[in-house]
Amino acid sequence: MSEPLHYPDLIVCVLAAGQGKRMRSTLPKVLHKVLGKSMLLHVLHTVEDLQPKGIAVVTGDSSDKVREHIGQPANLAWVLQDKQLGTGHAVRQCEAVCENAADIMIVCGDTPLLTCQTLDALAKAHASGGAEVTFLSAVLADPFGYGRVVRDESGEISAIVEERDADAEQKAISEVTSGIYCVKQNVLFKLLHQVGNKNAQGEYYLPDIVPLALSAGMSVRAIQMHDVNEILGVNDRVQLAAAEAYMQRRIIHDWQREGVTIEQPETVRIEASVRLGTDTTIGAGTQLLGTTCVGDDCHIGPYAVLEDAWLDDHVSIRPFTHIESGTVASHARVGPYAHLRPGAQLDEAVHVGNFVEVKKSVVGRGSKVNHLTYIGDTVMGEECNIGAGTITCNYDGANKFETLIGDRVFVGSDTKLVAPVKLGSGSTVGAGSIITRDVPGNGLTLSARPDQRHVPNWKRPEKNKS
Ligand code: UD1
Ligand code: MG
Repeated sequence: MSEPLHYPDLIVCVLAAGQGKRMRSTLPKVLHKVLGKSMLLHVLHTVEDLQPKGIAVVTGDSSDKVREHIGQPANLAWVLQDKQLGTGHAVRQCEAVCENAADIMIVCGDTPLLTCQTLDALAKAHASGGAEVTFLSAVLADPFGYGRVVRDESGEISAIVEERDADAEQKAISEVTSGIYCVKQNVLFKLLHQVGNKNAQGEYYLPDIVPLALSAGMSVRAIQMHDVNEILGVNDRVQLAAAEAYMQRRIIHDWQREGVTIEQPETVRIEASVRLGTDTTIGAGTQLLGTTCVGDDCHIGPYAVLEDAWLDDHVSIRPFTHIESGTVASHARVGPYAHLRPGAQLDEAVHVGNFVEVKKSVVGRGSKVNHLTYIGDTVMGEECNIGAGTITCNYDGANKFETLIGDRVFVGSDTKLVAPVKLGSGSTVGAGSIITRDVPGNGLTLSARPDQRHVPNWKRPEKNKS
C-alpha cells in the first residue's frame, strides 16, 4: 500500500451545475451512473482520496436532487451557481469558500474515469513547477468537443479554444485540455474576474484564464496525460457507454490482479462498489451489482445476477440465479435458477435448488430446499428437508403471516403451509398436505388425501384412424 495522500493547502472545486442538455434527460447529468455509481460520486471519491483541505461542489438548477444524492460529507461545501453562465463563472462562485487555500484544483463532475494518481501527479507538478496555472492536457485521436491547446511557433501555450469557437486549423489540433486545472489561489479569482463572455456560447469560459495569465506575465504549464481515457468527458449517452466500457475493463483487470478468475470477462458486469475475495471465480454473463460483496473461494454463475448480495467464503451460486439483497453463509449452494429476494438469509451449508424463491426468511444451517418451492416470511431451523413444490402460503390478500419451522423437520412434496403456522422440531409432514394448524414435534402429520381408485382392464384412448 502506498502512503495516504494529504493536501492541507488545497481546495478542490468540482463543477456540477451544467444542465447536461446533450444527455436529453430529466436527471442532472452528473447523477447519471457509470457502473452503478453516479459520475459525481466517482469524481468525489477520487478527490477525497487526495485528502484536500476542502471540496467545493458547484450545483445549479438541480441542486436539490444533487445534494440529496450526495448527502453531507464533513469537508464538502455546496456552492450554488444560480445561472449556468459557463465554467469560469461556476468557479467564480467558489471564491468565498476558497479564501484560505494556497492552491485551487478544478475538476469537472462529468469525468468519472479520473484517478487519484493523476490528480496527485497534477498537484505535485503544480507545486514543483512553480507555474501559476498548471493543467492536464491529452493528445486525442478524436479531439472533437474538447478545448484545443493552441501553441505558438516555439511550442509555448498561447490559448485554449473551445470546439465551437475554433477555426478549421484549430480544430485540427489534437492536444486538448482535460478541464482539470491547478491554480494559485491568489491569482485565480483575479483572472476569473477578467474573463469575458464574447464567444460562440456567450459563456464565461474557465480556460480563458490561460491567455489572461500569459499576458500578465505568469507561467502556465500543461502536463500531458499518459492514459488519455481518464479525461473522457461524458456529455451524451454515447460517451456514457464509452466511459462505462472503459471503467469495466479497468475494474475487471484490478480484480484479476487481486486473484479473481473471470471467465469470458467481456461478458461480465462488475459494478464499481462490488467487493470480491481471492480465488473466487465469476462465470460468463454474470452481473455483480450495487454493493454486492463476495468472499473467498466462491463460484458464481455463469449467468447469475447478484444485486446488493452478501456471500461468505466457499459459496456456490449456480447458473441463472438472481439474488436481490440476500445473504448467503459459507458452503451454501444456490441454484441453478433460484431467486433470493430481500431479507433472504441462508445459513451455513444450506442448499437452495432450482425454481426456489426465498423472501424475508431465514433458512437454518444445513437445511435443504431443493426444488420448485416458495419460502416467504419464514424462520426455518437447522437440518430441515423441504420437499419439492412446498409453498408457504404467507399472504391472505391483505396481510402477511409467518411460518415457523423447527430443526430437523421433513416436509413432504407438494405441501401447503398456510401461515400463521408452526412446525415443531423433528416433525414430518406427509406429501400433499395442506397444513392449517400448528404441527407438534417429532410425529407424522398429514392432511386427508383424496381417495385412490383402481380401474382394472381400463384401455387407453386410441387415435382416430380416418
Ligand atoms: C469543458 C471545457 C473544455 C474541456 C472539456 C473536458 C470549458 C468552457 N470547456 O467542455 O475545454 O476540454 O470540458 O471535458 O470549460 N458546468 C458548471 N456550470 C456551468 C457550465 C458547466 O458547473 O455554467 C460544469 C458541468 O456540469 C460539467 C463541467 O462544468 O461538469 C464542464 O461543462 P461541460 O458543459 O461539460 O463542458 P465541455 O463542453 O465538456
Ligand atoms: Mg463536459
